[in-house]
Amino acid sequence: MSPSLQRGAFPATRMRRLRAADFSRRLSRENLLSVNDLIYPMFVHEGSQKREAIASMPGIERLSVDLLAAEARELSRLGIPAIALFPVVGDAAKSLHAEEAYNPDGLAQRAIKAVKDAAPELGIITDVALDPYTTHGQDGIIDESGYVLNDRTTEVLCRQALAQAEAGADIVAPSDMMDGRIGAIRQTLEQAGHINTCILSYAAKYASSYYGPFRDAVGSAGNLGGSNKYGYQMDPANSNEALHECALDLAEGADMIMVKPGMPYLDIVRRVKDELAVPTYAYQVSGEYAMHCAAFENGWLSREAVIMESLLAFKRAGADGILTYFAKEAAIILNR
Ligand code: PBG
Repeated sequence: MSPSLQRGAFPATRMRRLRAADFSRRLSRENLLSVNDLIYPMFVHEGSQKREAIASMPGIERLSVDLLAAEARELSRLGIPAIALFPVVGDAAKSLHAEEAYNPDGLAQRAIKAVKDAAPELGIITDVALDPYTTHGQDGIIDESGYVLNDRTTEVLCRQALAQAEAGADIVAPSDMMDGRIGAIRQTLEQAGHINTCILSYAAKYASSYYGPFRDAVGSAGNLGGSNKYGYQMDPANSNEALHECALDLAEGADMIMVKPGMPYLDIVRRVKDELAVPTYAYQVSGEYAMHCAAFENGWLSREAVIMESLLAFKRAGADGILTYFAKEAAIILNR
């Protein structure tokens, strides 16, 4: 008889006991994805009854304001708590100083109002950043050398956030990574009486190559040309720096924190949640969506199962909510 058999032929603990039946798997499940976790990013463009496919994001479309409003009603009916709005404006609305960003009658502001009218209970999150409106595709105002000017940009971001709040945005989400902009936006909103407008700070936003399809979607890729955003977005090598960024934004008045991209950065989500214990969101970005779709289209991965597993992973990492282009599809699956 072998020594191991003499010491005990049976394992002391059988991890598989609780895995054996569906009831015990359900009882011991630690995390749950629900419709309440989902935020749907949407692209809006000018026109009426107009939808446009985005080649690198199969199944995602740019919608005109009327179609966006109708879709918002449907998303609300599915139980999705909020959408994130991204305007796609034509070249005529782009300029060096991004004045269109705070035009009260601009596309984003009209879209906010239309969605609020159509589905008042649906939360609206707006992107505070200048890239849709600059001729050069950077998130801010640049000097002659192309350097993005921090404090000049922050002034414009404040005007943009205020215009969004006035139009009815529930949550403004600065995704620009300028220093001090959360405090400045908070002051601007308070002074104007928008004391309950939330700020979701893209505090830990990395200079990622996973944003490519999004830049196609909003048409900033061409304008950006060979330039990058390394001068303001975070280095993918860094983790402590993310906590520093989040702590600053919280001190300046952010209500919620975002980590972006998502799946490759779940370690950051976990650290933010553990060390700061604040409402934490993560963005499964366009490149992550595109990768998944490519594998689904090739029959390499099983669509529904992988979508749900990918979203559950965010919950396990500690995210309170997930911005994902799969939000509508996941809501439909969860509602079955
Ligand atoms: C722009 C912005 C970007 C995304 C959201 N807001 C792109 C960028 O920073 O270049 C990316 C979202 C995605 O890839 O899905 N301020």
